[in-house]
Amino acid sequence: MFSFSDLKIPIIQAPMAGGVCTPELVAAVARAGGVGSFGFAYSTPQKIAEDLMAARALTSNGGRAGNGSAGGNVSPSRQARGGAINANFFVFKPVALPESDVQQAAMQALQKIPVSPDVFDAPPEMPSAPFYPDLHEQIAPVWQYKPDILTFHFGIPDASIVEQAHALGIAVGMTATCVTEAMAIETAGADFIVAQGIEAGGHRGIFDVNADDEQLSTIELTKQLVKHCSRPVVAAGAIMDGTDIRVMLNAGASAAQMGTAFLCCEESGATPAHKDFLLNQTQRGSVLTMGFSGRPARGIRNAFIDHMQDKTVLPFPIQNTFTGGMRKWAAQTNNGEYQSLWAGTEYHRVRAMPAAAFMNALAAEMTHES
Ligand SMILES: Cc1cc2nc3c(=O)[nH]c(=O)nc-3n(C[C@H](O)[C@H](O)[C@H](O)COP(=O)(O)O)c2cc1C
Repeated sequence: MFSFSDLKIPIIQAPMAGGVCTPELVAAVARAGGVGSFGFAYSTPQKIAEDLMAARALTSNGGRAGNGSAGGNVSPSRQARGGAINANFFVFKPVALPESDVQQAAMQALQKIPVSPDVFDAPPEMPSAPFYPDLHEQIAPVWQYKPDILTFHFGIPDASIVEQAHALGIAVGMTATCVTEAMAIETAGADFIVAQGIEAGGHRGIFDVNADDEQLSTIELTKQLVKHCSRPVVAAGAIMDGTDIRVMLNAGASAAQMGTAFLCCEESGATPAHKDFLLNQTQRGSVLTMGFSGRPARGIRNAFIDHMQDKTVLPFPIQNTFTGGMRKWAAQTNNGEYQSLWAGTEYHRVRAMPAAAFMNALAAEMTHES
């Protein structure tokens, strides 16, 4: 079973749903001796199978990650100090469409978008059930292709999933934003906990969006989880270079999970507008918004986030489907103002280079005295 001491470099390239985590990116990080992650939140079982197979093909020559042939035994070939592959999923909660007045208000919010300079004139349709993919169906290819690691965001999956993963020798991790969530994760039998600080880009992993959010910073949360939990803790949020990684390791973390830092890698599937804003719109800052998906997520401030302030949104992930047409249009027209440009607070320090070179740079920085 995967262990953090197997890694050559204690880095998890964060799972990032929405096309960012190409097999090329995942494989490059794994080959460099870190963990390459797929963000399969909304993916179909077929796409999941294709991506896992593609990453395995890319890591089978010269790389350490990958578990041999499909359906075979777990990872006889993963050697000490090699990399690993992670498949990540969302734990969606049952959800229904709200009352019609809320639907109307959410509809109004999207109809009155100031869309200049381009024209977006496709009014959104109210989504209908099923509102999210079935986790058991999505995960079937994982049992077949057996990545080294399986992680979950937004909560704890069925006990049967953790049991099956362990039976196949797959390590399980889950995101926590506070000690209470971390304790529940330990009780569920997870092998490690991802401590996601408030600075982190993308969706906040808090289990219950209606609960009080302690909004702990990455370093503070990491320290608290290391103190209260017996499982390894992975720090996530605003970690951009080797010095940042070392700070987290010194605080007791077993590894650093980095998302934003990998977005401008050559192999990243982030849209051109996303990369452009990360590199060139550094003064905007990143903010938390519910506007795109109905759940708090951190992204570069843009026209849509401003527009949605104080507007009605549908519950997660219905709002995500609801804004899907607009986001697709924005991607097609290369309009960064209406895409979700997920990014952590330190995005202005992002670097554009091939992933292997970036991993080498991080490893070198970790060993430098500052
Ligand atoms: C573009 C983007 C997409 C993300 N999607 C996911 C996801 O699908 N699953 C997940 O567990 N975390 C996701 N995250 C959060 C990361 O796992 C991690 O917590 C975060 O990237 C750490 O903060 P940083 O971006 O400052 O490095 C995403 C982050 C970004 C930037």
